[in-house]
Amino acid sequence: MTTTRTLYLIACAAPPARRLPTPIRAAQAAGWDVCLILTPSAHRWASEDATGEIAALEQLTGHPVRWQYKLPSQPDVLPSPDAILVAPLTANTLNKWAAGISDTLALGLITEGIGLGLPIVALPHWNDAQGRHPAVPRNVETLRDAGVTLLLGNGGFVPHQPRQGDLDAYPWQAAIDALPA
Ligand SMILES: Cc1cc2nc3c(=O)[nH]c(=O)nc-3n(C[C@H](O)[C@H](O)[C@H](O)COP(=O)(O)O)c2cc1C
Repeated sequence: MTTTRTLYLIACAAPPARRLPTPIRAAQAAGWDVCLILTPSAHRWASEDATGEIAALEQLTGHPVRWQYKLPSQPDVLPSPDAILVAPLTANTLNKWAAGISDTLALGLITEGIGLGLPIVALPHWNDAQGRHPAVPRNVETLRDAGVTLLLGNGGFVPHQPRQGDLDAYPWQAAIDALPA
């Protein structure tokens, strides 16, 4: 008997969020049932044109795309996660996450996910000027100490100079490979 494990893919508002079918298909190929959660900013990006991007992502995952907290009276619409992948992780969400802030659904899931002991992999995307803010290295260390597999540096995401990003080089597969077998 095979049991399908559920992966929550949590995407923040950085350019790789424009290519979410890539990690969704890669995770599905690795055997995961993928549920997509966007930050409110990432949802705004995906909703900019009336191209049906959200509907296409719902069709690809087979689940509603979530981006805000449900009301207390509403039912849960997603299965519980067995693991979480935060990609792309912005500097904004990194800093709020490390501080324990949970004012978006995405942050609520990843702050609570640490306490639940869920396997969490995070693949950042920011430029080296953003990365030099003193909060960033401090908060990367805080989250690593809390058990998050944060793929920054060799083997993961290496920050680029401002306006020099290469979306084709974003290492989605390294993040999929870092998920529990
Ligand atoms: C075109 C554009 C590109 C951006 N790229 C990045 C990025 O690569 N990394 C990052 O940390 N923030 C980036 N930002 C800033 C974030 O979108 C912004 O901090 C936002 O509040 C993040 O919200 P979230 O963390 O809730 O998704 C970018 C903003 C814009 C408009």
